[in-house]
Amino acid sequence: MDKPSFEQLIKEDRAARESKRWNGPFLEYLELVRADPTIARLSHARLHEMIMRPGTRDILDTDDPQVKRLYKDESLKVYRFFADEFFGIEKTIGQIVRYFHSASLKGEESRQVLYLMGPVGSGKSSLVEKLQRGLESAPPFFAIDGCPMYEEPLHLLPRHLRKEFEKMLGVHIEGDLCPVCRFRLKEEFGTRYEEFPIVTKEFSKRNRSGIGVVPPVDPNNQDTSVLIGSEDISKLDIYSEGDPRVLDLNGALNVANRGMCEFIEVFKNETEYLHAMITATQEKIIPAPGRHGMVYVDAVILAHSNEAEWQKFKADHTNEAILDRIVVVKVSYNLRLSEEVKIYRKIIRNSDFQAHVAPHTLEVASMFAILSRLEPTPKCDLVTKLKLYNGEEVVEKGKTKKVDVQELRDDTKREGMNGISTRFIMKALDNALSDNVDGNCINPINVREALTNMVKEADLPDDTRKQYLEFLQDILHKEYLELLEKEITKAFVYSYQEQAESLFQNYLDHAEAFVNKTRVKDRDTREELQPDEGFLKSIEEQIAIIGSAAEGFRQEVIAYLWAAGRRGERISYRSYEPLKEAIEKKLMTSVREISRIITKARTRDEEQTAKYDAMVQNLLDSGYCPSCVDVVLKYAANNLWKD
Ligand SMILES: Nc1ncnc2c1ncn2[C@@H]1O[C@H](COP(=O)(O)OP(=O)(O)O)[C@@H](O)[C@H]1O
Ligand SMILES: [Mg+2]
Repeated sequence: MDKPSFEQLIKEDRAARESKRWNGPFLEYLELVRADPTIARLSHARLHEMIMRPGTRDILDTDDPQVKRLYKDESLKVYRFFADEFFGIEKTIGQIVRYFHSASLKGEESRQVLYLMGPVGSGKSSLVEKLQRGLESAPPFFAIDGCPMYEEPLHLLPRHLRKEFEKMLGVHIEGDLCPVCRFRLKEEFGTRYEEFPIVTKEFSKRNRSGIGVVPPVDPNNQDTSVLIGSEDISKLDIYSEGDPRVLDLNGALNVANRGMCEFIEVFKNETEYLHAMITATQEKIIPAPGRHGMVYVDAVILAHSNEAEWQKFKADHTNEAILDRIVVVKVSYNLRLSEEVKIYRKIIRNSDFQAHVAPHTLEVASMFAILSRLEPTPKCDLVTKLKLYNGEEVVEKGKTKKVDVQELRDDTKREGMNGISTRFIMKALDNALSDNVDGNCINPINVREALTNMVKEADLPDDTRKQYLEFLQDILHKEYLELLEKEITKAFVYSYQEQAESLFQNYLDHAEAFVNKTRVKDRDTREELQPDEGFLKSIEEQIAIIGSAAEGFRQEVIAYLWAAGRRGERISYRSYEPLKEAIEKKLMTSVREISRIITKARTRDEEQTAKYDAMVQNLLDSGYCPSCVDVVLKYAANNLWKD
């Protein structure tokens, strides 16, 4: 298809926008509300609808066995509105949506601040920004023409008629005209409020329409005009005292009317300052500057900060009244490896970062981030915990380790509130790239090095630093070598998958015959044979199953796969984790020549060179670039097979 011309794009966009635009007298607006009462809904309901519009799904509605394993006992919803941009914080998002849901029903929550609290880089600002962007692409809203606060047109209805209009329109009407509109109504329209012009407005953060932002304010200059606007001194000479034409209702809470107001690092502000925020939330009014009474506001008030600020604020008893009016949602770090990787993929995709990212690079960096966030437990080591939290099955001494993930979580106190932040990791990825003079490429090796250097230089308590270095130099080193060995084996072994499946089938045939005390029918010759115990043992010993343990293991394998088959699962060598490990290890040991071929570059014969080249090609095909393929093979030669 042809690309549309610029002109075409611009025209189409304009037409689309104009088709949504509307203006007319208040009387016609009333008809619009009668036809669709939702256009007059309050801010919380508007945001709730915006979040729900793309729909939801159950987290278990997937084929991913890791997700099924992790969430088997929970019913957790995934909200599509957030799902492409936020990973591993489904519960946090669930709490945020719950707030909007009950606030949209005008519950107590609609009069409370939604406050996100969590460590740096846990996604607080991004969550707020997502809501703001959501509003910006939502349909426009209707407002009184010229109102500095874009107020709801229904405010024009006099009090004594509201009950009747509420019934006719099927809406709830609250709030009164702002001083500016009240004055204009009296001056220009007299009693004929039905003629007052109504327009549509689009939410925009930059234009400060329906979205207000309050950065932390200098504590020595907490002028509330930032929040509630001010009187224009130059106009004080022209108009008489009390004339609302002197008002500049352009504070963050004014412009947030109909939408939302964000308070960044909220508790850096003085208590007095926070009172305006609380009144706006609790009473839905704010003072107008000077002597102009109070102004009605309808906005979602959303604040965020880190935990230290929150604790300090909470400890001060004079703040009790405020505390009572805050719904706290903890935004902790994600603790699922697969999701952490998605976070960095997203950040990289949205940035100018242009380099090759070698396989497993983000995985290794993410492992470090998550290890640093985990609390130790007596039930297992930290790497095992990380894998269990990722929904993996962990094999230990030939058995899948049975530790209940929910119990692990229940045992923790503040897991996910400490540790390495997403920003730290991103910085390390940048450093790895700028340090790499040979290639435009980051890989697990240079990233681990960059992380190590950063940890050495970071301002950290000594024992934390020591632990982080241990993660990097010891645990991650080992984990990565394991990954790498598998990867190289896969690239080296011609049709790895088929070989693994064939070992698996053979193992099953023989183990089944062994368990049932029958014979094995050879697939080709149809000969009946005794089960080959030597072969069974050669697989089992890979995961340290020897002697009397073997019989139990064989029974377990058969029972497990039998049950899986009955559930309708497709059986493969990957189905039963301990057996998969054993088969993969068996494949690795069967290709001992890898090591010779990789390490002894100079003495390769023709056949070996061909094998080597084929392996390199396979690695290139699976995502390595010419630069990092060299790096990882050298690394493997030095670390895996140096005899
Ligand atoms: N769970 C997560 N899912 C997706 N992205 C995340 C997550 N946590 C952090 N991020 C990303 O990390 C970066 C830093 O997050 P940010 O929102 O600035 O954190 P905070 O405001 O909590 O300090 C952002 O690019 C953000 O999108
Ligand atoms: Mg932030």
